[in-house]
Amino acid sequence: MTDNIDLTHQQERAFQPQKLSAPRDFIIPNIINDNKDEKPLMLEIGAGKGKHALSFSAQNTDKHLIAIERTRNKFEAFSKLATLQNLSNLDAIHADAIAWTVHAIKPNSLAKIFILYPNPEQHNPNQQWLNMPFFEFLLSRLQVGGEVILVTNIESYMDNAEHQATKVWCLPSTRSRVPATSQRTHFEVKYLARQEVCWELSIRKPKWYKTRFDDWQVSAISEK
Ligand SMILES: C[S@@+](CC[C@H](N)C(=O)[O-])C[C@H]1O[C@@H](n2cnc3c(N)ncnc32)[C@H](O)[C@@H]1O
Repeated sequence: MTDNIDLTHQQERAFQPQKLSAPRDFIIPNIINDNKDEKPLMLEIGAGKGKHALSFSAQNTDKHLIAIERTRNKFEAFSKLATLQNLSNLDAIHADAIAWTVHAIKPNSLAKIFILYPNPEQHNPNQQWLNMPFFEFLLSRLQVGGEVILVTNIESYMDNAEHQATKVWCLPSTRSRVPATSQRTHFEVKYLARQEVCWELSIRKPKWYKTRFDDWQVSAISEK
């Protein structure tokens, strides 16, 4: 791979962050502008009822997780448990992850992004995460050496994600099978209990990687 990464074929559909308003009741979590302990910052998109977010944060107190869920009833279940567990290294956010990320996350700031069992979007493949122009923006928020973890039980979703990672996003990735004993999320528990195969894709951001959003951020988070 060279530094001549070619994302220009995405140009017609380039993501337009400036067109997205901040989510309703938007508040920037303290960790964004005040990460005193320099904890690695992680983002979970589509956290559901928060099973992964709650156990990950409890087990990784040296890291800070922001977990976003859009669906109100799922978020409410997550939020109740998060309040009970009272973890200082977890922010549970009720929002659309796209608008929220645009308004809250600095470039080159995330150590890891979890996308665990995303909606299949089989009838609307443009909404699959690696097919979206937003994915370039998401990559701009990842640190060099940072990782995107995508997990799904749908083989065609994984085949496409792996293909897009290589062909569109010019990124190295590793695909593996989720161990049958894994229990990270409610969906994972359900699929593995049915003895379905679940797939995991790990995508790493190399040193040479550039996106068109590397210098783009909203003014409210202006200090880097
Ligand atoms: C199939 S569920 C999986 C939930 C959880 N990760 C699990 O594995 O149990 C996908 C979740 O992603 C959420 N979601 C989809 N698009 C989203 C977005 N743009 N922002 C935030 N959440 C989103 C949905 O509301 C849904 O709860």
